[in-house]
Amino acid sequence: MEILTDLSSMQARCLDLRRQGKRIAFVPTMGYLHDGHLSLLQEGRQRGDILALSIFVNPTQFGPKEDLAAYPRDLKRDLDIARRAGVDLVWTPTPQDVYPEGYATYVDVEGLTDTLCGASRPGHFRGVTTVVCKLFNVVQADLALFGEKDFQQLAVIRRMTRDLNLPVEIVGMPIVREEDGLAMSSRNVYLSGEERRQALALSQGIALAQKRACEGEHSSRTLLAEVRSLIEAQPLARIDYLQICHALTLQEQEKVDADAVLLMAVFVGSTRLIDNSYLL
Ligand code: PAJ
Repeated sequence: MEILTDLSSMQARCLDLRRQGKRIAFVPTMGYLHDGHLSLLQEGRQRGDILALSIFVNPTQFGPKEDLAAYPRDLKRDLDIARRAGVDLVWTPTPQDVYPEGYATYVDVEGLTDTLCGASRPGHFRGVTTVVCKLFNVVQADLALFGEKDFQQLAVIRRMTRDLNLPVEIVGMPIVREEDGLAMSSRNVYLSGEERRQALALSQGIALAQKRACEGEHSSRTLLAEVRSLIEAQPLARIDYLQICHALTLQEQEKVDADAVLLMAVFVGSTRLIDNSYLL
């Protein structure tokens, strides 16, 4: 496994691999890898000749009051996981390399970023799309893998890729969960024992809505009220948003159908967790 920090060395290496006709599969991450990231790496390993991983806690996608400084980091452990997953190239750029003095260019996807996490975290998706576009330009990947855990992020990246004609295939992968249902996230380490227990309300809310929708309850208003009261029964949980939206437009939907996705962001203590699922 090759580990590169310098941006121009990474770009030169990837261009060279492309010229040799290698198919590059790319998994961009912020590190502190878990089984969710691993599932992307495994799929990438299957699909590409070369598997590239980036680890970069991207400052531009964090708000001024968010957890940039506290975001968990453990490069040694990440490199062990990457090695075992058969990664060929790891890129760990520095913020100075990605955003040098005088940096002034941003990528902004309109519309899709106005709601849900975009409404709660102003500027977040501008930071995500900017960095992902830059990562794509350096890595020259044929395909890039993203998790449905960040459902809106995946939709926004698909739109950016289409709108800017980026020559990369975007592959979405299912959410990987802990045995008890909690969606895996690097941020789960912030949770205390009691918070961890109450955090189950997110996946339990999803399970309840799925069950009720399958039984024939297709009113979003009714389903959302039921999920809301399940989550609010946990004293440490505070709902940031809870919506049923169309999977492609992310617009709210009154009636549940095959395109309906339940999306939520919930603070458990001071940790903000997100989760989502199709309902039918
Ligand atoms: P990060 O949170 O590290 O996630 C990297 C990738 O792993 C994302 O595509 C995310 O959706 C996926 N992922 C996280 N948890 C998952 C889970 N439980 N199951 C399946 N996939 C999961 O998302 C980011 O980093 C950043 O915004 C990034 C795209 C790297 C840009 O900075």
